[in-house]
Amino acid sequence: MKEVFEGIAKAASRIADALAHDDTGYSDNKNSTGDVQLKLDIRSDYIVEEELSRIPTVHALASEEQEQISPIRTGGEYLVGYDPLDGSSLADVNLSVGSIFGIYENSFVGANLAAAVYVVYGPRIEMVTAYKHNVELWRQDRSGEFKFVQILRLKDQGKLVAPGGTQQFWYPHHKKLVDDMFAEGYRLRYSGGMVPDLHQILIKGGGLFSYPGTTDKSKGKIRMVFESMPFAKVFEMAGGLALNDEAGRLLDSVPEGHHDTSPCFFGSKNEVLRAMRAYGNKLD
Ligand code: F6P
Ligand code: MN
Repeated sequence: MKEVFEGIAKAASRIADALAHDDTGYSDNKNSTGDVQLKLDIRSDYIVEEELSRIPTVHALASEEQEQISPIRTGGEYLVGYDPLDGSSLADVNLSVGSIFGIYENSFVGANLAAAVYVVYGPRIEMVTAYKHNVELWRQDRSGEFKFVQILRLKDQGKLVAPGGTQQFWYPHHKKLVDDMFAEGYRLRYSGGMVPDLHQILIKGGGLFSYPGTTDKSKGKIRMVFESMPFAKVFEMAGGLALNDEAGRLLDSVPEGHHDTSPCFFGSKNEVLRAMRAYGNKLD
């Protein structure tokens, strides 16, 4: 696993350099979901594939930016599902963006996630790894090396709410949940990039990030293999919860296709359980 993390660290340094200096404009291509790709999406995807395909333990790669899974070699124990540049539409306004990696064994189902990693490209370049027993924060130093900073743990309750999805299409019970939380003093923290938005909740100790199913998209927008299952690994290992709208663990998800999406709720225990009650789920 160490060599996979090193490959991710190398890719992250190169993506950070591209973000700092390259053109933030659109390309002429669309990805498999129909999103018009930025030149930076394509470049980041190329960088990750180049770095990770060199790692002898990597068997195959699945990118949010590519329709098909890329077989890398016959051996190798890991399948890496990745979103090379999450929140890339924020690159031109110079807000933080990120990369997300799920490192799976055998197949792209939540139960097979051996580790998850994400990188935040902000004023600092930070990497969070969820592996074995701990969620760890790493930060790039002046020489470009990632240095361990601390173990991350969520409290049972936080103060922040990051409510994704177009409000026009929210179900009434979802709107009531969010309105009630704001009426109780929760503060809005939503940039539109799931990496910095979830990172903020994790670093500040708790809260709720939701990307619900909506009247126009019943399964929401967040892709399980590249986005929600890796973050579910991070949030559960940090002592929080990561559930879908039926109170099922995102880590129990078995996507039919590797681009499938699901509604998702991440955060500290009290807020995620509260969201489940708002959705009418019976909790033990
Ligand atoms: O990858 C999907 C994504 O860009 C996430 O990073 C982010 O949380 C979400 O979309 C934002 O979507 P919306 O603009 O609908 O709130
Ligand atoms: Mn994304």
